Amino acid sequence: MGFYEFVFFGSLLSILVAPPSCEARVGRRTPWDPIIRSPVERPGTEKNGTRWAVLIAGSSGYSNYRHQADVCHAYQILKRGGLKDENIVVFMYDDIADNEMNPRNGVIINHPEGDDVYAGVPKDYTGEEITVKNFFAVILGDKKAVKGGSGKVVDSKPNDRIFIYYSDHGGPGVLGMPSTPYLYGKDFIDVLRKKHASGTYKEMVIYVEACESGSIFEGLLPEDLNIYVTTASSADESSWGTYCPGMDPPPPPEYITCLGDLYSVAWLEDSESHNLKKETVEQQYQKVKDRTSNYNTYNAGSHVMEYGNKSIKPEKLSLYQGFDPATENLPSNRIGFNHQMDVINQRDADLLFLWEKYKKMEAGSNKKAETLQQIRNTLLHRKHLDGSINFIGLVLFGPAKGPSILESVRGRGLPLVDDWDCLKSMVRLFETHCGPLTQYGMKHMRAFANICNNNVSEEDMEEACLVACHGHDSAEWTPLNLRGFSA
Ligand SMILES: *[C@@H]1O[C@H](CO)[C@@H](O)[C@H](O)[C@H]1NC(C)=O
Ligand SMILES: *[C@@H]1O[C@H](CO)[C@@H](O)[C@H](O)[C@H]1NC(C)=O
Ligand SMILES: *[C@@H]1O[C@H](CO)[C@@H](O)[C@H](O)[C@H]1NC(C)=O
Repeated sequence: MGFYEFVFFGSLLSILVAPPSCEARVGRRTPWDPIIRSPVERPGTEKNGTRWAVLIAGSSGYSNYRHQADVCHAYQILKRGGLKDENIVVFMYDDIADNEMNPRNGVIINHPEGDDVYAGVPKDYTGEEITVKNFFAVILGDKKAVKGGSGKVVDSKPNDRIFIYYSDHGGPGVLGMPSTPYLYGKDFIDVLRKKHASGTYKEMVIYVEACESGSIFEGLLPEDLNIYVTTASSADESSWGTYCPGMDPPPPPEYITCLGDLYSVAWLEDSESHNLKKETVEQQYQKVKDRTSNYNTYNAGSHVMEYGNKSIKPEKLSLYQGFDPATENLPSNRIGFNHQMDVINQRDADLLFLWEKYKKMEAGSNKKAETLQQIRNTLLHRKHLDGSINFIGLVLFGPAKGPSILESVRGRGLPLVDDWDCLKSMVRLFETHCGPLTQYGMKHMRAFANICNNNVSEEDMEEACLVACHGHDSAEWTPLNLRGFSA
């Protein structure tokens, strides 16, 4: 075994030490009972206002299959719930269904035994059209500011309700996007304030799946915007992918990628198995919190957090997600799911994917060698990022205090950083000298935030970046074809 293979398998071992395997498999989704559909139920634009939804997957690439699968699945639930396509805006890169690695051409699944969730999903914003600017313009209903895509926006009225669901990688204070720049917490909150000031909705519910997703709202989202938020994780922990190869439950054997994310499948599977005219927002929060904690084990799971106006919680979910008449006879909330699931840290899911790809390839083939090279590059790039950040901390604060300052987590109720412009400047300085942060490097956002919280000047930061990344060729290989700064 060569050095790199050693590094590679060593790292994988530490990643793949799986949590205790569960005895039971995930309950099979029972096909819907052939309930006689009641002719009166056609929710949509009645006196409770119109239901609007914005669904966004922030990633691209087959290794991130699960984020787009989550979003497609969400669309199907809302659609069955009676929301109209004109009121659902979907952002998805759309490189999964027809991907050469997809074993079922034109099909996306979000559960090992799940049906296709791709058919019929509106392609409002795809590929490079998925930008922070377009996302914000859509929420604000600002047709003129939208570039490309279907032009569909949330043209909501004062009595309407809005549901926003996001799934992707993130980091402290930031959510990923397929193209730079990324989405920063403070900017998102500013857009929500603006939407509130325009008086064009009654209430809003937002679900966010990403690592450190709590940090997008912690200490930032006021309670008086009529918005209720739940996030997959607290401000300082990972969120988790699930239905991954080699796990319990596994995807069908021909899949080399994870099919879903723990928090996301928790709410999606909860919604489709209950009568949403009876189940409340609060009940769903509790169920999702339990399941995402992996039933209070937390060793492989995360703390679902809530933010904003909690008075929205007693409301029925149907006000946001609609009501599927086929669920009429299902309970409001049943205890159906109470065992642990195998999961993987969002940030290691791409390594798992590459490893699965590698295993499946023909021994001695060029493709196998290429895949090994890809894994090697990924690990080396991670080392480069981690090492540079450590080095910068050492230069700025000395070897004794450096690590603790960079990693320090502020208390509950405090935002990640006070000066978000400073945070963005520090990110740009780093990327100028050390290359793109990438999906993995978003985990270091807290270090940049703490550099700002400690009043480091841009001059001192630039100096530290120069020292740490001296000789780094920023055109060097990076996992994605990234252009532009992430801030
Ligand atoms: C409107 O909202 C109220 C209160 O949540 C609910 O009782 C009623 O069933 C809703 N009407 C429709 C048509 O959804
Ligand atoms: C929270 O929402 C409730 C119900 O819509 C509303 O009555 C209350 O004023 C809101 N609280 C704040 C602080 O805005
Ligand atoms: C940074 O500067 C602010 C404003 O001048 C000050 O209140 C704060 O104590 C300083 N923080 C540190 C860690 O020096």
